[in-house]
Parts: sequence; C-alpha cells; structure tokens
Amino acid sequence: MRHRSLLAALLIAATGAIAETPRDFLTRFEKEAGATASIERGARFFTARHGGEWSCASCHTDKPTQAGHHARTDKPITALAPAANAERFTDAAKVDKWFRRNCNDTLNRVCTAQEKSDVIAWLLSLK
Ligand code: HEC
Repeated sequence: MRHRSLLAALLIAATGAIAETPRDFLTRFEKEAGATASIERGARFFTARHGGEWSCASCHTDKPTQAGHHARTDKPITALAPAANAERFTDAAKVDKWFRRNCNDTLNRVCTAQEKSDVIAWLLSLK
C-alpha cells in the first residue's frame, strides 16, 4: 500500500512538472526576450511572408481558431489557437520542435523569443 501511494505521489509530481499551459510559454519567451509580447505584432508576423513562399498562415490559416491544412501535403492540421484546441502549447518538446521546424520553413532561420511570445500572445487573444 505504501508503495502505491508513493507511486501515485511521484506520478502527480512528474506530470505536474511536465504539464505546461500556453501562459507558461508566453512568460518563458517574454523572459527570454526581455520584453512584453505584442498581440498586434504577433498577428502581423503570423500572416506576413518573410521572403519565402509561406507565412505561418499558409498552413495554420489567418484565423487559427479554425483547422488548417499543410500548404504542400494538404494534410489537415488542427487549430493552433488554445481557445479552439486545448492541447496546444502544453508540451515543451512539441512547442520547441515545431517552432524550430516551422520557423525554418517560413523564415529560413529560427524565430526569436520575441517573435514566439508575440505569436502566442496573439493566439491567446483569439476566442
Ligand atoms: C508548411 C506548413 C506549416 C507552416 C508554414 C507553419 N506551420 Fe506550424 N505546424 C505545422 C504542422 C504540420 C504542425 C504539427 C502538426 C500539429 O501540431 O497539428 C505545426 C505545429 C505548430 C506548433 C505546435 C504547437 C503545439 O503546441 O502543438 C506551433 C507553435 C507552430 N506550428 C507555429 C508556427 C509558426 C509560428 C509558423 C510561422 C513562423 C508556422 N507554424 C508555420 C505546419 C506549418
């Protein structure tokens, strides 16, 4: 019995440490950037092209409370805005992986912490 409750406590501790919220990511990137995020800047960044073929909106649409689809493969992509998709911005490995990949595809470089915090601030403002 003692074992079981210890295991349960460990599980709660472990999942508690892993589970994050969109606000946690906003705070993390604002801290890294040393600046407050801007919803307007996030909206502009997300919908603009940056010298390449795609904007973020090419795959995620300019209304990310809706589902999108991949600009090349046409595969469906579930909504990116947390209000429409509770799984978004809850897993650091996923967030870091996809920011890296999508920023490279869209900007030919990684996104700055400020760009990431702006995008999250804008996505969080969508209802
Ligand atoms: C070529 C298509 C494409 C473009 C362009 C694109 N994305 Fe994505 N994005 C994806 C796919 C595919 C996934 C992973 C599948 C999924 O999570 O639904 C994804 C996932 C993400 C995630 C993961 C979020 C989470 O917690 O689940 C973030 C953040 C993200 N994209 C941000 C961006 C940003 C910011 C841009 C513009 C710089 C961008 N994407 C441009 C296709 C794209």
